[in-house]
Amino acid sequence: MCGIFGYIGSDNGIHYTLEALQLMEYRGYDSAGIVFEEEKAFTLIKTVGKVAELKKTVNTRVANTTSSKALGHTRWATHGIPCEKNAHPHQSNDGSVVIVHNGIIENYQELRTELVAEGYSFISDTDTEILVNYIEYMAQKEGGIKQGLVRALQHVKGAFAIALMSTRDTSSIYAMRRGAPLLLGIGKGEYFLASDMCAFLQHTNDVIFLDENELVTLHDTEYSIESLYTGERIDKSIESVDFDIQSAQKQGYAHYMLKEIYEQPDVIEQSLIGKLSDGKIVLSHLPKEQPPRIHIIACGTSYYAGLWGKYAIEELAGIPVEVEIASEFRYRKKALDKNTLVLAITQSGETADTVAGCAIARELGCKTMAICNVVGSTITRMVDTVLYTQAGPEISVASTKAMTSQMIALLCIALHYSSNRESEQYREYIGGLQHLASTVRDILPQTEKIARQYAELCKDKKSFFYLGRGYCYPLALEGALKLKELTYIHAEGYPAGEMKHGPIALVEKSLMTIALLFDDEFGEKTQSAISEIQAREGQVIAIAPLGLVTTADFEWHLPKTVDLLQSFIMLPALQLLSYSIACLLDRNVDMPRNLAKSVTVE
Ligand code: M6R
Repeated sequence: MCGIFGYIGSDNGIHYTLEALQLMEYRGYDSAGIVFEEEKAFTLIKTVGKVAELKKTVNTRVANTTSSKALGHTRWATHGIPCEKNAHPHQSNDGSVVIVHNGIIENYQELRTELVAEGYSFISDTDTEILVNYIEYMAQKEGGIKQGLVRALQHVKGAFAIALMSTRDTSSIYAMRRGAPLLLGIGKGEYFLASDMCAFLQHTNDVIFLDENELVTLHDTEYSIESLYTGERIDKSIESVDFDIQSAQKQGYAHYMLKEIYEQPDVIEQSLIGKLSDGKIVLSHLPKEQPPRIHIIACGTSYYAGLWGKYAIEELAGIPVEVEIASEFRYRKKALDKNTLVLAITQSGETADTVAGCAIARELGCKTMAICNVVGSTITRMVDTVLYTQAGPEISVASTKAMTSQMIALLCIALHYSSNRESEQYREYIGGLQHLASTVRDILPQTEKIARQYAELCKDKKSFFYLGRGYCYPLALEGALKLKELTYIHAEGYPAGEMKHGPIALVEKSLMTIALLFDDEFGEKTQSAISEIQAREGQVIAIAPLGLVTTADFEWHLPKTVDLLQSFIMLPALQLLSYSIACLLDRNVDMPRNLAKSVTVE
């Protein structure tokens, strides 16, 4: 989603801003822009498409210009198509205020009507242009930009983050967040504002995590933070972030996605550190007593991880678990109380629907917990307990290693609350977990090779079913999502038992089915679905552990491990299949069309 950046300091802000926009490209965007201040006037440059295009235009138009104050933006369209006039920054009619904005202004129609009555007109289709004019209008009324900004933001509704400059006070940059991410980086004689810390980590690791409705004022050599509503000064602690910028680079892999798939063994090892010791899983910061019930909320891949977690937690710990898409959860009438632990799963910690779901869970008096990858992200500061997944930065828009790390976290919760720690099954899982990283590491190269062969077979198909039962069901959903996201081929994930209830009508020669099987009580049942599809001339590739024989047209055998741990071997195979098809089809693997890494709007 949109990326905001701001720089104030003694260096060339134009250069810093372009560099930062490039580092935030992975968030997903369709246009980009920059504004800088020079001799109390603003220069805006915007382009559709990649930041490289913006860089080229900046180099042609203002090659030797430097500026100590600049704002930049990558836009992911919400109001109006991607085009130059809709790209950010936006400027007020009188040219005195410039703004970059991430998120949505909900009452923009109301503000628009008020402004039109005052004689304002608009050239873009965006809510941002209305916002910047509203701020300017308020600045006139209040007799100052800061006072006007405060009044305007108190009246504006929605979830957003902004940074702005004004000719009324060219020595400052102002910023605020409400429901969308914004961080303040503290450098030596310079400050950075960004939606994502990767935009400034090469300059500083010192970060202030801004909270909702905190107004930031940046000057050349100082900054201040105050409450938007009371005006009270807020002293925030500066945190030193331990984040390896190297790991956010491709390191010789063709794509971030491939690199991140290959990082999964390290992620498994990393996420077990401090949790697995003395043959037991202990999550020291979790209450010892089982919660009476768990309600998981999440979106996309994180939701599928949650569904997988339901199977694991109910099987091993016997705790009833419900799993719900966060966007449904947030608006539904709910019967939850303080006996329910609401568990939010999110890689980014910024997904708007999941954030809103957490806020509602708190209002209902539920206990809250997050499984999250990004330290200091919005969700981690809202919930009672956080289980960090320690997967490192995930740059590719399509989630891979994050899901593995979430499944490990969920399995750890299941084992932590296991009702029978002395059982054979518990010991088997612990033994399996101890070897899991090396097993996955060993099989990845061969899995990639086989995936590339199957990709040739699949690349021209127009439609796919992914079928599974038990633990294979959430994996089937994820397999189908990865194929859709990366290749733009239609794919549906189904519980294999549902086939006969409708989807089977779609089976014909051109449909390819990927059937997922473990050597468990469901294996035979999924085999029945395979036969039914074959009887209707559909082709089937079965992905199953070694030794499990099926009637599928093609059998892709993976090494066998302990029961549900088989999921950690199956998942990379599904990721690599979609990745390989996407490469053959020459798709934009790391940044598929229309997608954003972090969905910070509803
Ligand atoms: O950051 P989150 O885990 O909250 O993100 C949730 C989804 O937006 C995300 O998993 C999305 O579905 C990915 N593109 C999947 O590859």
